[in-house]
Amino acid sequence: MKLTYKSLAWLSLAAVLALSCAQTKTSDKPVYLDENQPIEARVEDALSRMTLEEKVKILHAQSKFSSAGVPRLGIPELWTTDGPHGIRPEVLWDEWRQAGWTNDSCVAFPALTALAATWNEDMSALYGKSIGEEARFREKDVLLGPGVNIYRTPLNGRNFEYMGEDPYLASKMVVPYIQEVQKNGVAVCVKHYALNNQETLRHQYDAVVDDRTLYEIYLPAFKAAVHEGGAWSIMGSYNLYKGQHVCHNQYLLNDILKNDWGFDGAVISDWGGCHDTDQAITNGLDLEFGTWTDGLTMGATNGYDSYHLADAYLERLRDGRASEEVLNDKARRVLRLIFRTAMRTDKPFGSLCSPEHYDAARQIADEGIVLLKNEASVLPLDATKPGRILVVGENALKMMTVGGGSSSLKVQKEIIPLDGIRAAAGKLQVDFERGYVGDVSGAYNGVVTGQDLSESRTADQLIADACAKAKDADAVIFIGGLNKARFQDCEDSDRFGLELPYNQDAVIEALAQINPNLAVVIISGNAVAMPWVDKVNSIVEAWYCGSQAGTALADVIFGKVNPSGKLPMTFPVRLEDNGAHALNAYDRKATSVEYKEGIFVGYRWAQKKDVKPLFAFGHGLSYTTFSYGEASVSKASIPANGTLTVSVDVTNAGEREGKEVVQLYIGDDEASVERPVMELKGFRKIALKPGETRKVSFTIEPDMLKFYDVNAADWALEKGTFTAYVGAASDDIRTQVSFEVK
Ligand code: BGC
Repeated sequence: MKLTYKSLAWLSLAAVLALSCAQTKTSDKPVYLDENQPIEARVEDALSRMTLEEKVKILHAQSKFSSAGVPRLGIPELWTTDGPHGIRPEVLWDEWRQAGWTNDSCVAFPALTALAATWNEDMSALYGKSIGEEARFREKDVLLGPGVNIYRTPLNGRNFEYMGEDPYLASKMVVPYIQEVQKNGVAVCVKHYALNNQETLRHQYDAVVDDRTLYEIYLPAFKAAVHEGGAWSIMGSYNLYKGQHVCHNQYLLNDILKNDWGFDGAVISDWGGCHDTDQAITNGLDLEFGTWTDGLTMGATNGYDSYHLADAYLERLRDGRASEEVLNDKARRVLRLIFRTAMRTDKPFGSLCSPEHYDAARQIADEGIVLLKNEASVLPLDATKPGRILVVGENALKMMTVGGGSSSLKVQKEIIPLDGIRAAAGKLQVDFERGYVGDVSGAYNGVVTGQDLSESRTADQLIADACAKAKDADAVIFIGGLNKARFQDCEDSDRFGLELPYNQDAVIEALAQINPNLAVVIISGNAVAMPWVDKVNSIVEAWYCGSQAGTALADVIFGKVNPSGKLPMTFPVRLEDNGAHALNAYDRKATSVEYKEGIFVGYRWAQKKDVKPLFAFGHGLSYTTFSYGEASVSKASIPANGTLTVSVDVTNAGEREGKEVVQLYIGDDEASVERPVMELKGFRKIALKPGETRKVSFTIEPDMLKFYDVNAADWALEKGTFTAYVGAASDDIRTQVSFEVK
């Protein structure tokens, strides 16, 4: 009989019950089974009862997504799942093909770029709570996400799974997600630690990064995930750093993560990211997954025994080449993970596809959609007045939850934009034209959308047909952008350029000429070039919003929701306006990628070089307007260990209720090293009724003023003048005030 994970879970439970029945008094329970005992004592007790073989057994996969427990002791196995936008459908034990379950559909939550664009920590908590409940209901112990790799280049095919270009924003947004997921007894596995900032040659490239850049830009969100979020596991990334694959990397795993940060959880390899037995043993890997094997033919008894942390490790332990001390450290970490998740009996049950989860997905999407431009007030459209609108573009139809790599989902429901618009259009008649043909496939690992997107008209004909209908429409909404096909927003490949694919620029230009009442909606996880930006009155960035994509887009288009999202990344005019590309430091063929732009990522580069972005980091409009008063400081000067408060009054100066993200940036006016013009150090999303004013205060702490001093190998704070800039975007500072550090 092949054991399913359900039957194994029952067997484990039965074993635990049998043990506890045999010893009726609580005090007679073995320590490791006694939930009243501290977890460390239980882990030590369990470890002391395990054989060498059992210790090694829990350090590697036993199937595509699970690893073994210790059946003899009633210690359950671990079940992992992707992540990070919903719970992945079940695949076969040894294969990527679908298991064919009928109860593994989920709610797709908005992509993490959309979450980051809410600039609202409450939305991150809601996200974590909801996806954590779905994971729990599906009996998963480890959710493979969230991801916080910094947005270094707009070409990275996986940017949609991450939280943008700024380490402060990503740090703040990742923490509530983690805390809320883990309340369900489900661990997060924060990925991809670290420096996995492109997909091209992801298994081969060595990221060459100076220490200051590493500490200031690429590590803070991971550190926050560990220190503030309390993440129970972390995923080593595919790339190399200092010549070692990051899944077994002395510097990033042992020195920084485990020693400096005191991480007590388990390091899990990205699937197939482990390449060397000796390094896997010594350089910080705890749990190996997905090493290339078909799971059937390569091993002694089965493929999983051929993993680096399996038989090869056992051999080294038996002949004395590997120490039991290191083994115990790994086993302890994995046991801790099991005790924190699979072994807990007081976990909530979770829920799947609940109305609350759909509602959460909608709220997050509503707050994440960004209104980039709105001249002549094309938006919002008034659904109470009769008229005719024309929707153009493949992305109005295309389901986006299938594709893109491991984050691909099988959803119970996905409202496509056209359906969302139709449902909310009220008295408006809605017509549709295809406009362009992009990617008509709709399958990933055997999950199919079932959509027939075939189209036989030529590109010219499609434009002509769209223009014919656009001519007398009261408004035209073009819905395009990227998609989840390879070389778009997709794992394991990067885009080739910044421009929109599939002739979309020509379609937009033609529509803009024929009807000025045009809104362009971009669905993407990445910045795109907009050569037509001056000819189009309204532009919306709508991300990948999952199950509620169409509903949320319609909420914004018809004004049911006043948009309040802000860009978590810079939209450059041209690729060369991005630091990595300006310096030719992104090379598709290079196996050594030098991060030459250093700390000048995103807006830090744009401001240093004074290049005007197409849309700046932090930019996002509303259907109302906000005015800012003068910023003031609680003290004009502070000692190096002091704090002060920056306050500003913000008023809703328009006629609609709305939300504003008040952003605080700080600049160091007299530093001994080159520092960015300003860096994000605070943000607050506030809701204001028309005419209402609120005071927003930020506390400035010494850590916010420091830079990483490479000579001291530590963070440094220098005395002198600093400026606090407060505004609505990185390029829309409304007020500033200086203070002194003495
Ligand atoms: C991806 C991970 C994912 C894993 C399991 C890898 O290819 O990089 O993000 O969690 O597969 O599907």
